[in-house]
Amino acid sequence: MNYLQYGLGTVGEGFIDCATERNTPLPAAVVVKNPHKTRKYPVKTANDVVLTDFDGILETTDDADSAFVWTAEALQAGKFVVSANKKMISERFLEWFDTALGSSAPFLYEAACCAAIPVVRLLDQYYAHEPIDVLQGIFNGTTNFILTRMFEHNKDYARALEEARRLGFAESNPTLDVNGSDTAHKLSILAIHAMGLYLAPSQIVRYGIPTLSDYDVRVARERGKTIKLMAEARRISEDGVALSVLPTFVGRESPFFSVGEEFNAVGLTARCTGPAFWLGKGAGGRATGGALLADLRAVEAGYRYTYTKFRSGQAPKPDPQAVETIYLRFHTDEAPDFVHFIDEPLRRHEAEKTGYYVGKVTIQELRRCIDVVEHRPGYFIARW
Ligand SMILES: NC(=O)c1ccc[n+]([C@@H]2O[C@H](COP(=O)([O-])OP(=O)(O)OC[C@H]3O[C@@H](n4cnc5c(N)ncnc54)[C@H](OP(=O)(O)O)[C@@H]3O)[C@@H](O)[C@H]2O)c1
Repeated sequence: MNYLQYGLGTVGEGFIDCATERNTPLPAAVVVKNPHKTRKYPVKTANDVVLTDFDGILETTDDADSAFVWTAEALQAGKFVVSANKKMISERFLEWFDTALGSSAPFLYEAACCAAIPVVRLLDQYYAHEPIDVLQGIFNGTTNFILTRMFEHNKDYARALEEARRLGFAESNPTLDVNGSDTAHKLSILAIHAMGLYLAPSQIVRYGIPTLSDYDVRVARERGKTIKLMAEARRISEDGVALSVLPTFVGRESPFFSVGEEFNAVGLTARCTGPAFWLGKGAGGRATGGALLADLRAVEAGYRYTYTKFRSGQAPKPDPQAVETIYLRFHTDEAPDFVHFIDEPLRRHEAEKTGYYVGKVTIQELRRCIDVVEHRPGYFIARW
């Protein structure tokens, strides 16, 4: 295999380490942005290479725009693409999809979703003909590490984030992780394969964990629960579905309760085979590098995704009237009269100038509510 690798950061280096150990052919060239950094492996810049010299590309950069250009060019030229770039894959799906289907070479991206869990292939192949009613999971290792530190080690959010950075589980700018965007990218990709529905990440209702406080941790603990950042695609009716990324109160009865540290987990309920659950490392050079290696070997074996459900034209549609039960914590000086619960709020407690409601809202109303409270430290929203 004669292929070109883009990127030699955490993932790119992890891939070459794994490929070396597993006696897999190494890339013929590695292209980076800054050729002057000290590296473990020799590098080039984009100007030093031409696509026609290679059979395909292995894309491990964090540059979604360039990755899209390289991917489109490679597929059009009949060259395979293996990528970990979930931002590019999810945000620009409609732009590359037809090219990928029409290309004589495959485009594989297992490393983009929950690294060590081979969930894209499972959904695309094993569940190709079985409806999935619920797909849910913990798709982000950084936030799961932070939440584990807050719940099991009594750290506040700032100290937990600092520890995640020190141990290499959070980037210097962790915004896309902690605000739920990274999870939304993965949910967008997995919903295509699981349900045949493409919803751009920006259309998915999303709220993150930066304003999670000791108060919320106490509320959860008093109920024997923890809080996890959960992605969920739930079928509301035969043709209606709700997609969301929300901090979620999780009880001991749930298999997600004990998913700790930087681990990811995926669960689903399928119409015939029922519930299933997978656990694995969601990030890091070796876990992601190993997934890229598996995809490269799959390319050699002639494997490609089927997109059976997406191509069937029978996908469910997002239902803005789907109902969620949410927890809304607020500062009592700023009563949250901007959220209109369907029923009377189930609960309202006030203490220490802090109170919370628990009540039912539609997805549409929840999105409006999130627009108002996002980034305001006095508030926190979670699925109850
Ligand atoms: N880290 C994880 O655990 C993980 C897990 C799953 C998926 N991913 C995805 O994998 C990708 C890489 O993540 P990472 O953590 O490895 O990032 P990283 O450590 O920041 O490395 C990014 C690499 O991309 C190179 N690069 C950026 N723009 C480029 C350009 N225009 N041309 C050539 N090279 C360019 C950088 O070059 P320089 O070295 O010269 O700066 C660097 O080597 C991202 O899309 C990420 O979302 C990461």
